[in-house]
Amino acid sequence: MFLEVKGLTKEYKRNDSVFAAVAGVNLSVSPADFISITGRSGSGKSTLLNMIAGLLTPTSGSIEIDGQDISALSDKEASLVRNSKIGYIPQGQSVLANFTVLDNVRLPFYLFKRQGDATEKALSLLAQVGIPHLSLSYPRQLSGGELRRISIARALINSPSLLLADEPTSDLDPETSAEIMALFRRISQNGTAVLLVTHQLETTSYGNSVYTMADGILTKR
Ligand SMILES: Nc1ncnc2c1ncn2[C@@H]1O[C@H](COP(=O)(O)OP(=O)(O)O)[C@@H](O)[C@H]1O
Ligand SMILES: [Mg+2]
Repeated sequence: MFLEVKGLTKEYKRNDSVFAAVAGVNLSVSPADFISITGRSGSGKSTLLNMIAGLLTPTSGSIEIDGQDISALSDKEASLVRNSKIGYIPQGQSVLANFTVLDNVRLPFYLFKRQGDATEKALSLLAQVGIPHLSLSYPRQLSGGELRRISIARALINSPSLLLADEPTSDLDPETSAEIMALFRRISQNGTAVLLVTHQLETTSYGNSVYTMADGILTKR
């Protein structure tokens, strides 16, 4: 098991009462899994992913990555685990406008001291996601589908074991969405687990297990 989530809960205050945006979620992810979670807007999908990505602290529950409880680590140790083992594709556009495509993809490699150079790896990832010809372009010249491919390549630069994707096709046309979903399937077949959340039911046919989220509660379909 690569990722083991137990009893994960995030509470927020609204007006004078407390509500759970994520309410006692249990989830296990193995290498090469392709899991999709569907649910309406506001059901807690992004909150769940942000906790797994380490961007948000849970109210209670635990997250183990490779057998290591990440809440027991220091901020710096947890950042390193995240940067090395988890690739994150945030909702919407997240590429940096003043960097070339190649520099956007290489960026996470340089956030921690590492041996070597990420250029070759970045170029091979750009080929893998279908945009090898755009390495020296700037994001403002590119389409929505091309921008999404950049964020996928960037999320893979440190060879993560788990790829998290938040609504990766919600702003794309159906044909481009299908291409992006096929790309995620290939990535999972190559051994990187994919955990994708979406409000679009049609994208779930690509996964090998499907969950539904409603009012913070995760149910297997
Ligand atoms: N920082 C916050 N403070 C208070 N409520 C929040 C916060 N973030 C999210 N929420 C609420 O938690 C619920 C789940 O949000 P979210 O995880 O973004 O849902 P989804 O991604 O499924 O659309 C929503 O009701 C949202 O308003
Ligand atoms: Mg969301």
